[in-house]
Amino acid sequence: MRLPEAVLARIEEVAEVTVCGSQGPPSREQVIAGVRDVDGVLSSTVVPVDAEVLEAGQRLRVVSNFGVGFDHVDVGAATERGILVTNTPDVLTDAVADLTLGLMLALARRIVEGALLVREGRWIGWNVRLPLATDLSGKTLAIIGLGRIGTAVARRAQPFGLSVIYHDVRGEIAEAAGLATYRPFDQALREADIVSLHVNLTPETTRLIGARELALMKPVAFLVNTSRGPVVDQRALYEALRDGRLAGAALDVTEPEPPDPADPLLQLSNVLVVPHIGSATRETRAAMLDLAVRNLVAGVLGQRPPCLVNPEVWSKRRTP
Ligand code: 8YV
Repeated sequence: MRLPEAVLARIEEVAEVTVCGSQGPPSREQVIAGVRDVDGVLSSTVVPVDAEVLEAGQRLRVVSNFGVGFDHVDVGAATERGILVTNTPDVLTDAVADLTLGLMLALARRIVEGALLVREGRWIGWNVRLPLATDLSGKTLAIIGLGRIGTAVARRAQPFGLSVIYHDVRGEIAEAAGLATYRPFDQALREADIVSLHVNLTPETTRLIGARELALMKPVAFLVNTSRGPVVDQRALYEALRDGRLAGAALDVTEPEPPDPADPLLQLSNVLVVPHIGSATRETRAAMLDLAVRNLVAGVLGQRPPCLVNPEVWSKRRTP
């Protein structure tokens, strides 16, 4: 990630800055060497910050993550070492929710298939060889994980005439009343015409959607994933789509990222994959960077960062 000059200058007011891997994601060796003798790190989802990296960063006070998801950071190891971990929630909620709705519409209305047909010169007269699409109105959307982004998706879904149901590990959520109706996990999958995933990646949510879960879904249903690639068993997804047991899938996230161009999943006409662009708008990325820098600078200066993932590290520091 290239930092704009003005952003670099803000960090340089409090610390000397070393940019690691300016030509793309740094190698593991570069990361291990880069964290030695530094007080803070600004990184993103493409750079795993695991126990070995944290061990190398003997002076580290703060790991500031440019993004809301922090599955690539070993938060437990950081907490043990008294290192603050921060993220950038809220500022990207609307952007990710917008993309999610965009993917739903694109899938249901076959927008990308239609655009490709025209681009490739296959629109000849009115004999358009494109199967009819699906209305969103009157259908049921299941949101798996009704956090900030899941809730924003539910709000956007209502004007399209979708009934919204949800499943969340916290159970029924009082604030969801009037917006979305709770269902047990399997029931949500069975009932939905569209399933949209909005969970954090944890050991519990890894392969949350596998062969068993896909078999519960209706053959006419669509799956949308803007959370993390490993939440879905991609092989099982491929087989379900190939065999017509699922109508389509739209993925902003894959495993790995980028996916192997030879992955047969990418060749299916009912699959739409975009390159992890949920937060990729000018306004949102600027807001994320601003928040990530505020988190970093506060952590380096020994102040409480605005968005702490492990606040217990801070509380322990305060109480001698
Ligand atoms: C990426 C995201 O982090 O915020 C998240 O969790 O997945 C994205 O916003 C962003 O692309 C930086 O890598």
